[in-house]
Amino acid sequence: MAWDFLVAKSDLRNTRFQDVDPPPLEEGEVRLAVESFALTANNVTYAAFGETMRYWDFFPGPEGWGRVPVWGHARVEASAHPEVAVGRRFYGYLPMSTHLTVKARPGRAGLADASPHRQGLAAAYNHYLAVDDEQGQDDHRALLQPLFITSFLIDDFLDEHAGFGAKSVVLTSASAKTAIGLAHLLKKRGTTRVVGLTSPRGRGFVEGLGYHDQVLAYGELSEATIARPTASVDFAGDAGVLRGVHETFGEDLAYSMLVGGAHWEAGGAQGRLPGAKPVFFFAPDRIAKRRQDWGPGGFDQRYGQAWAGFVADAPRWLHVQRSQGPEAIQAAWLAQVNGETRPDVGVTLAP
Ligand SMILES: NC(=O)c1ccc[n+]([C@@H]2O[C@H](COP(=O)([O-])OP(=O)(O)OC[C@H]3O[C@@H](n4cnc5c(N)ncnc54)[C@H](OP(=O)(O)O)[C@@H]3O)[C@@H](O)[C@H]2O)c1
Repeated sequence: MAWDFLVAKSDLRNTRFQDVDPPPLEEGEVRLAVESFALTANNVTYAAFGETMRYWDFFPGPEGWGRVPVWGHARVEASAHPEVAVGRRFYGYLPMSTHLTVKARPGRAGLADASPHRQGLAAAYNHYLAVDDEQGQDDHRALLQPLFITSFLIDDFLDEHAGFGAKSVVLTSASAKTAIGLAHLLKKRGTTRVVGLTSPRGRGFVEGLGYHDQVLAYGELSEATIARPTASVDFAGDAGVLRGVHETFGEDLAYSMLVGGAHWEAGGAQGRLPGAKPVFFFAPDRIAKRRQDWGPGGFDQRYGQAWAGFVADAPRWLHVQRSQGPEAIQAAWLAQVNGETRPDVGVTLAP
């Protein structure tokens, strides 16, 4: 049985499954059977920005319907490529489906999908890392790795600019895993105070992480005493929250970075904001720059060291919840869209 989970592009709560017949393989193609994948707010953001950022283009679906990209693991079920053996396992960008056919271009660490429809899209998403014999790390890798690389790049960017002179960094949606990764790194660096801004529900959880100097619920920001000047890193993408940050700090807001849209239904036009003009952080550009600056080995060495420190501490605060089957996938998707997934729970799903 093979199927795709489809999400209506115009209504992310409208979903259905479609049975499919995986096509016969052409020369050079490989059919991957999806084993498991992680689901976080990041995937809802892919769908919410599916048109503008071209996230729908990776895994085309029927007219009006999208296949949401997720990060996970898959095994080669059938191969028409002489260098890619049946049974090999890969980690990478997958659809919420039972199968994905790729046009394999083997490389040093895995393979790339050379399918024509993926060629204009960011290269980082088209690479599949060979992960034979490493099944023990699957859940944490799928849940945290795609997010932590952004945390790492932001921390490095702020450091390169001497934190824009800020004495504190305010993180919105502080309970999000990408924000947690950044708080972990900033705390380690110790050059600024780390302030987490979250919903009342997330507050106790964020405090328990131990990565922040101050944790506030959104409604508490304007009354709080926070070291100035301040930089903000926005993971919420919430027009009201961002305005609140800018109005609270005014000219003392030294830098305003836009990263995420976890509050995906609360975005919208901002008009003029006091303080620094918000700047979008584009991770692929930053990776390309640092790979050049440090050389490929230098990047991997620095990133690998940071990742090892973060992931070693993750079992303390992240409880993996595994489920399987179409009903579980549909329910987990809806919960994530509705913001009902608990921040201390890492959802992984198998088709
Ligand atoms: N630009 C980039 O390269 C890049 C890279 C990685 C991630 N990101 C973005 O960073 C954001 C966080 O992603 P993540 O995967 O780290 O998140 P996550 O761990 O799944 O975040 C969970 C938290 O996000 C907020 N949230 C999630 N869904 C919500 C909803 N439907 N309504 C309201 N709040 C909701 C809540 O935080 P609070 O209660 O604390 O607000 C929740 O506790 C996403 O928008 C993602 O796309 C961007």
